[in-house]
Amino acid sequence: MRVAEKGLLVTDELTERASDARRRSDALFNLLREDAFYDRPIPERHRIVFYVGHLEAFDWNLLKELRPGLKSAHPEFDRLFAFGIDPVGGGLPTDLPSDWPSLEIVRDYVNHVRGTLDRNLANIILEPNSQTRDGFPPRTLFNAAIEHRLMHVETLAYMLHQLPLDAKVRQPNSLPLAGPPIVQRMVSIPAGVVTLGLARSPERFGWDNEYAAHTVDVPAFEIDRHKVTNRQYLEFMAAGGYETHALWEEDDWNWKTAHGIFHPLFWKREGNRSSGQTSSQKSGHTWLWQTMFDEVPLPLDWPVYVSQAEAAAYAHWAGKSLPTEAEWQRAAYGTIDGATRPYPWGNGDEAPNAQLGNFDFHRWDPVPVNAFPDRQSAFGVHDLLGNGWEWTSTAFGPFPDFEPFPFYRGYSADFFDGKHFVMKGGSARTAACMLRSTFRNWFQAHYQYVYAGFRCVNR
Ligand code: AVJ
Ligand code: FE
Repeated sequence: MRVAEKGLLVTDELTERASDARRRSDALFNLLREDAFYDRPIPERHRIVFYVGHLEAFDWNLLKELRPGLKSAHPEFDRLFAFGIDPVGGGLPTDLPSDWPSLEIVRDYVNHVRGTLDRNLANIILEPNSQTRDGFPPRTLFNAAIEHRLMHVETLAYMLHQLPLDAKVRQPNSLPLAGPPIVQRMVSIPAGVVTLGLARSPERFGWDNEYAAHTVDVPAFEIDRHKVTNRQYLEFMAAGGYETHALWEEDDWNWKTAHGIFHPLFWKREGNRSSGQTSSQKSGHTWLWQTMFDEVPLPLDWPVYVSQAEAAAYAHWAGKSLPTEAEWQRAAYGTIDGATRPYPWGNGDEAPNAQLGNFDFHRWDPVPVNAFPDRQSAFGVHDLLGNGWEWTSTAFGPFPDFEPFPFYRGYSADFFDGKHFVMKGGSARTAACMLRSTFRNWFQAHYQYVYAGFRCVNR
C-alpha cells in the first residue's frame, strides 16, 4: 500500500509536469503568425516547423521502447523530425520551405503521437519491474522527455526573439524591475574545494553529462559581484574593443571579421541619424535593445548578452578572464566553511520562485543585474541563477566516469569537440527544474543567439 501510494504520487507529479511542458511549448508556437512557421530566424538551425514535429518525434522515439510492440503511425516523420542540427556541423542548411510538410499535417502527427503515448503509457510507473532494455526506470525517460521539451521551449524563445516583431503576437510586458545604482566590484573567493556533478541516485534525474560527482580544488580568485552590464560593454566598444585585434583569439577575430560583427546581436542602431552621432553613440543614446516584443532604448543596467568570443575579448580588455566551470560553481554554491549549498541564495534550501531570480518563464526579458539584492551567494555574488546564462572558459567535456545514456548516446558526447563551452546559471526562459546546481548547458563560442552573458575573474 505504501509503495503504491508513493508510485501514484510520482506518476501524478510526472504527468502534471509533462502536461505543463506541453502547455509551454504549445503556448510558444501560439505566439507565431501562421506564415512564420516556415521561417528560419537562426541560419544554423532548422525552420520553425521542424520543432513542431521534433518535440513529439523525440518523445515517441524515446518512450516507445517502454511498450514493445507499439506501432508508429508515421515512421517517416519519426525520422524526419528526430534530430536538430549541430550548430558547427558542416555548412548551413539549405532546405526550402516547400521541402517540409504542411503545418496541418505536422499538427495531426503531434496530436496522434500525444494520444498514443498517453493511452499506452499511463501508469506504467506503477507496473512492477517496468524498465528499459538497459535497465533504466520509466521515470528517467519521462524526465528526459520533459526536460528535452523545456530546453526547446527556451531555445525556441531565442529563435522567436530573432523574428521581425510583426511575426509574433505581442504579449503583455512584465513590470520593469529597477534596482539602486549598481556598484560593480570583485568578490574574493578563498581557495577551497568544490563538488562538480551529480551523485548517482535513483531519486534524482540528471543528464549523462552531469555524472559522476567529483571534487576539484580551486585556488583563490576574485569574481565580479554582478554580471557585466550593457553599460560596461559600451565602454569596451567605445574603447575600440571590436577593432582591436590583440584582444581577440585568432579564430574569434576571423569569425567576427567574416560576419561583420561590431556590436552584440541584441543591440540595434536607432533610425538613420547619419551624421554627428559618434559621441552620443558612445554614450549609448543611439542604441536600442531588441526585447521579445519591442525595441527599447538600451537598458544600461541589464546584463549584456554576447557570444563567448565577444565575452572573452571584453575580459581581455578589462585585464581579467572568464571563469572556469569550477570557479563559477564555487562562487555560486560554495561556502566559507567548505559546505556546498543546493542553491546560491539564502541558506541554499529554498526552491526556485519568482522572488529569487529572473527564471522559470515569469518574464520575457532581462532585469537589472542587481534586481535581487538579498539573494546573493554565500560569498556575496549576485544573480547567479536566471537573468541570462553565464559563459565559462571550460570546453564542454565529460566528467570522470562519464557514460552516455544508451537511450540517447549523442545528447552530450556529440558536442565534446572542444568547440562548445559550458554555460552555467539560467535565463528568464529556463524552467525551474533545470536550475539544479549540476545542470550544464553548452553552445559553441560563436553562437550569439542565446540569452547568455558573463562575469569576469582575476586569479
Ligand atoms: C543543451 C540546449 C545545448 O538545444 O542544442 C535539444 C539541448 N539537445 N535537443 C540544444 C537539446 C537536443 C541542447 N542544449
Ligand atoms: Fe531536440
